[in-house]
Amino acid sequence: MAITLPAGFEDMLPAEARFYHDFVETAQRIFATYGYQPIITPQVEVTELFVRGIGEATDVVSKEMFTAISGENLGTLLGGGRIKSKSRLTLRPEGTAGVVRAVVEHDLVPQGAAPAKLMYAGPMFRAERPQKGRLRQFNQIGIECLGAEAPSVDAEGIIMLMRFFAELGIPSESMVLLVNSMGCEKCRPAYRDAVRAYMDDHADGLCDQCNERAQINPLRAFDCKNPSCEKIMDAAPKITDYLCDECREHYTAVLAYVSAAGIAYVEDPKLVRGLDYYTRTVFEVQALDSNSAQNAIGGGGRYDKLAQEVGGRDTPGFGFALGFERCRIALEAAGRSIADAPSCTVFVATVDDSLKTQAFDLVQRLRDAGIPADTNHQDRSLKSQLKLANRLQARYVAVLGPDELAEGMVTVRDMVEHTERAVPFAEAQRVLI
Ligand code: HAM
Repeated sequence: MAITLPAGFEDMLPAEARFYHDFVETAQRIFATYGYQPIITPQVEVTELFVRGIGEATDVVSKEMFTAISGENLGTLLGGGRIKSKSRLTLRPEGTAGVVRAVVEHDLVPQGAAPAKLMYAGPMFRAERPQKGRLRQFNQIGIECLGAEAPSVDAEGIIMLMRFFAELGIPSESMVLLVNSMGCEKCRPAYRDAVRAYMDDHADGLCDQCNERAQINPLRAFDCKNPSCEKIMDAAPKITDYLCDECREHYTAVLAYVSAAGIAYVEDPKLVRGLDYYTRTVFEVQALDSNSAQNAIGGGGRYDKLAQEVGGRDTPGFGFALGFERCRIALEAAGRSIADAPSCTVFVATVDDSLKTQAFDLVQRLRDAGIPADTNHQDRSLKSQLKLANRLQARYVAVLGPDELAEGMVTVRDMVEHTERAVPFAEAQRVLI
């Protein structure tokens, strides 16, 4: 039986792969105008980074991590021994923790320095139940800004993300930007206690998991999809009623900058996001027409305590990530399809096999001149070569025939204009197009 991909993993075939590269390039171009520089961190980190950074009680850490035991440690495990947590490695479920680790490890934000503005693109891994828009390996583009806590950082990040979505072609009316503030270590504990007390009062109507959550991390219950829990949590205390003065001021300033940029948003006091590192601003962009339960195309927020959590000095941070595959779904819903692109501009065909060497010489000259070119590498008649040129969407076909070549000429067909002309073989790379 043929071996196939495991569920939740996808191949990107050429049209999709090309679209992905354009997608990343577009993000790099736009984000660079806001001062973001690329960073590439490994796809694997020590497990403890995610446990400490993202939070043990989150679904991502408690249920969805692909954790690898290296061969060296496997013997210990099979022998019934315990493996030190630092020697366990995990495929990154998201990019923020790794970037913050790198910033701390390389001291990219020394005291008094300008903020480090970093962007990344690449695969993330979560062992979730696969469905449309929910993969086990998916691609994110993300940014992180470390070293500044001003609300203008949050606002420009949100504005930049919406700019990117607009440039991609996702219509503004088919997405919604949700914004909230999670407060800080000063005001959140009282809020958490209020939610816990409220959940205890409504324990009968909550699912078992939410009753458990009430004790460990009550805010996670806002993400529960159980209809009875959703109804109860709709009426739970709102964080906005508990924000301290500094957090309220910060939140108001973020909203003011975003409004001034002409970007519509909806305040959602139930938006808590699935990762524990957030403080103050959180936001999410949801696609409205994607016909998929997995409609969050991007999201992020502020994480002022994360650098300390992973062992660095106090460094405020803000960032977001967007999902490539979900943006694709949103673009499809907006009627945008990804067409196959031509794989060559000029196809060099031969009337018979005796001219293969000359054809090989001409394609090389065309390529050296920067013209995408290809020729026949199989056993094909001229007719079949012309069909192939059509399939490759070649604009021109150069047909090498013994008689023309004897006169130093080659026939060039324009496949769009349906015209033909003869050009000098020796000069073809310069005069053919
Ligand atoms: P996140 O909301 O977990 O945030 O993921 C960001 C985006 O990745 C989502 O909005 C979604 O588009 C995509 N995504 C997440 N999980 C999947 C999946 N299983 N399949 C397909 N796409 C998925 C973060 O990861 C944070 N690190 C964002 C951030 C950066 N916060 C601060 N800085």
